Amino acid sequence: MLPKKTVKDVDVKGKRVLVRVDFNVPLKDGEVADDTRIIAALPTIKYLMRQGARVILASHLGRPKGQVKEEFRLDPVAQRLSDLLEKEVTKVDDCIGEEPKKAISQMQEGDVLLLENVRFYAGEKENDPQFAKELAELADLYVNDAFGTAHRAHASTAGVAEYLPAVAGFLMQKELEMLGQVLESPQKPFVAIIGGAKVSDKIGVIENLLDRVDTLIIGGGMANTFLKAKGMDVGRSLVEEDKIGLAQELMQKAAENKVQLTLPMDAVVADSIESPTNIKTVPVNGVPAGYMILDIGPQTAKQFADLVKKAGTVVWNGPMGVFEQDAFAKGTEQVARALANSDAVSVVGGGDSAAAVKKTGVTERITHISTGGGASLKFLEGKELPGITALEDA
Ligand code: 3PG
Repeated sequence: MLPKKTVKDVDVKGKRVLVRVDFNVPLKDGEVADDTRIIAALPTIKYLMRQGARVILASHLGRPKGQVKEEFRLDPVAQRLSDLLEKEVTKVDDCIGEEPKKAISQMQEGDVLLLENVRFYAGEKENDPQFAKELAELADLYVNDAFGTAHRAHASTAGVAEYLPAVAGFLMQKELEMLGQVLESPQKPFVAIIGGAKVSDKIGVIENLLDRVDTLIIGGGMANTFLKAKGMDVGRSLVEEDKIGLAQELMQKAAENKVQLTLPMDAVVADSIESPTNIKTVPVNGVPAGYMILDIGPQTAKQFADLVKKAGTVVWNGPMGVFEQDAFAKGTEQVARALANSDAVSVVGGGDSAAAVKKTGVTERITHISTGGGASLKFLEGKELPGITALEDA
């Protein structure tokens, strides 16, 4: 992907700058429950404030399906952002039209305003040119810092760039640099750890990485399909029967590419996910009848950690087990710790793996944790991200 112009390449003083951020954050009891994404956008916001821009922020929250839904209003986000900036952030109840226009006309240089959820309009997801134009009318310049939403071709992530000069923010730039480095110039040996429940969600990533990595580690529920493809009896474990052939093909491709493909050797198994009465650790070829694999076992975790220790670059996407439950979270936590303890460049694709890193308390020791779930996956698949394509090349 070509490098993109950033906020540093344009004059922003006195300008009305529309910044698309990804403030799609979890809320609890009307408050922001995790402000990671808000904090990640601060460098761009603060830079623009210092440079004397009028900073107009736009984001989506949840999936309100083109309607105004009270629970998806951005007021709690404005509150948290005000606290973080130690400056009043004006919040308006619409994202286009008279109300924002009036508030923007009253802004001073360095002021920050947050528009209402752009997904209250159906035109956002439809990438409706009229809606994009109305957003563009609010500003002189467009900055996209919403890496987490860059895989969506929506009006505020892509369409609006047709009507305004369009550049990347610092978070977008950092994500592109770190994820780009992993794909284009990884320090060797390059180890990828792919987990999660289903192979079907990760086919594109595995295929793209098989041309690049030295070692591919597969864990999580999706490993069961590979184990079954190798002829093992995995009991009642989750298996995608229709992906067994694909798993065989991927293992074949790994062999052809001389990629070491590593599967779990032992597993934590139980008789139920929600209310297990029996939990055991067994070799993967010895899953008792009626049991299912719910986490990798300690020998596997050690083997994975040894591979990570020798790596120059590690990329990780997807948990090793049902990590939301403490009984099945150890494998995922051990992988998080292995990344933290390694000298390798470590990159974690957002979503579940980022949450696991946070839960394990090793966030500071990971080189880069992406703020994008779906977006980082699309990027690692080698796919074009519309929100990035729309920006001006450097
Ligand atoms: C995310 O949380 O992955 C992004 O904010 C995109 O949200 P979406 O999946 O609702 O488009």
